[in-house]
Amino acid sequence: MVNKMPIDKGYEKAAKYYDLFDDKQNIEFFVDFAKQYNSILDIGAGTGRIAIPIAQTGVNVVCIEPSKAMRDMFKEKLEDLPHLKDKIIIIEAEAKEFHLPQCYPAAILSGCFDHFLTPKERYQAMNNIYHHLKTKGRIIFDVFLGLMKEKSWVSAGVKEKEGKTIKRLIKTEGMKNNILQVTLLYQVYQNDIKITEDIQHSQAAITTFEEIIDLLSQIGFTITNKWGNYQCTPFVEGDKLLILEAEKD
Ligand SMILES: C[S@@+](CC[C@H](N)C(=O)[O-])C[C@H]1O[C@@H](n2cnc3c(N)ncnc32)[C@H](O)[C@@H]1O
Repeated sequence: MVNKMPIDKGYEKAAKYYDLFDDKQNIEFFVDFAKQYNSILDIGAGTGRIAIPIAQTGVNVVCIEPSKAMRDMFKEKLEDLPHLKDKIIIIEAEAKEFHLPQCYPAAILSGCFDHFLTPKERYQAMNNIYHHLKTKGRIIFDVFLGLMKEKSWVSAGVKEKEGKTIKRLIKTEGMKNNILQVTLLYQVYQNDIKITEDIQHSQAAITTFEEIIDLLSQIGFTITNKWGNYQCTPFVEGDKLLILEAEKD
């Protein structure tokens, strides 16, 4: 049997550090949205950081996740949560290509939209999600409008785990076509001695508010809310975070 190496699009080496460093205070925000429904799509579900708390409220979650390492972390967590076994399905696919036999009342994307790198991919991904929603189905997603084009190495957090100190550094470089190359360096120390390090490259797109609004209306979504943070403060121009809620026409 041929052992296929997963394609690394930005998470294969970082997956094991993901939950430690992603401390965005957005779980409650997505759970509050999701619990209005009996089932939901989580696109780019990652390690299940949000999908698991959603399933814990009784909602069925269908997770789309292309990264093998992220899915493996997710599945490892589920081994300790057998009562959620029937509540969560994990599907290996990108947003633009998944195909499910039924439609859902809602979908969420957390930290995923920025990985749709080109206008074509953004259209294909959001259009595919649209076609997996029921009429009047809702989508909620965040976009980091404040992505910096050029930034040399800066600290992006220090965490302690199992007697080790893990330092994360980040570097961003602008590439062609508004694509940003993001490099994360994880350095693991024990008793002040560096024992290992991992480097992870990924790419993110720089998009504008106007482009995203145009894209949604082209597909047939009506925007129902625009927020600038997970506490639901209305979005104002200049906010670095944009959270959109939209409805299928
Ligand atoms: C920043 S992580 C967020 C994970 C999770 N949603 C969370 O908030 O904890 C982005 C996730 O999107 C996934 N992703 C990247 N490109 C994608 C694509 N084209 N389609 C679907 N998921 C994608 C990545 O593999 C990764 O797991």
